[in-house]
Amino acid sequence: MRYEVVLPAAGSGKRMGAGQNKLFLNLADKPILVHTLLVFEQDENCTGIWIAVKDEERPFIRSLIEKYNIVKVKGMPTGGEERQHSVHSCIKEMNAVDVVLVHDAARPFITIPKINELAEVAYEKGAAIAGVRAKDTMKVVHNGLIKATVDRESLWMVQTPQAFRYEILAEAEDLAEKAGFLGTDEAMLVERLGHDIHIVECSYENVKMTTQEDLVFGEAILKQRK
Ligand code: CTP
Ligand code: MG
Repeated sequence: MRYEVVLPAAGSGKRMGAGQNKLFLNLADKPILVHTLLVFEQDENCTGIWIAVKDEERPFIRSLIEKYNIVKVKGMPTGGEERQHSVHSCIKEMNAVDVVLVHDAARPFITIPKINELAEVAYEKGAAIAGVRAKDTMKVVHNGLIKATVDRESLWMVQTPQAFRYEILAEAEDLAEKAGFLGTDEAMLVERLGHDIHIVECSYENVKMTTQEDLVFGEAILKQRK
């Protein structure tokens, strides 16, 4: 299934504490952002890449795209205050396609087979997101006290890619904006409209580079894959 991908890359990486956009930090020999871009560049089903960027970082990102011969980037609109705004800026700028994927630029270890599985399910069913089963026992805690133990069987930790038929995500984003609704992922915006969203079991390797220790996991994953 052919698709276009939106990569939100306009964050500031506060939790990483690197004093710069964490996507520019190297893992092995390349910036995190380049690792992510190369996965989609190498997937023949990916027909276009949209990157939400900060204006002041656009020239540097453009230089990375040139250096690593990435040819699929179709646009780099200006991101917004929140991740949702950054994704929306790309969705508004692109032309309608059958399937669009949204993938955190900070998740460089996603694999091409998993991307394609998500795109297929989204095309057939409308919406599909990546996730993994919760590993630990999960509890509800209020003011430092356990209130409940949640049935782990029904708990998933969700990731990206999140894949949708384009018109479903575009409508969900427009309506969220009108309602002033802010979600932490795209699925939340689509859930509000009552659509079914399918979960596709992904890998614990598909971690988001968020804090310093994630860089250690990241280096280990790269070493093991080599
Ligand atoms: N992102 C974005 N626009 C924002 C916020 C985040 O495009 N306003 C992007 C980030 O660049 C990242 C992805 O969304 O690729 C996931 O966000 P997150 O991991 O939270 O990254 P940051 O927001 O940069 O990090 P932090 O929350 O620690 O500041
Ligand atoms: Mg953030």
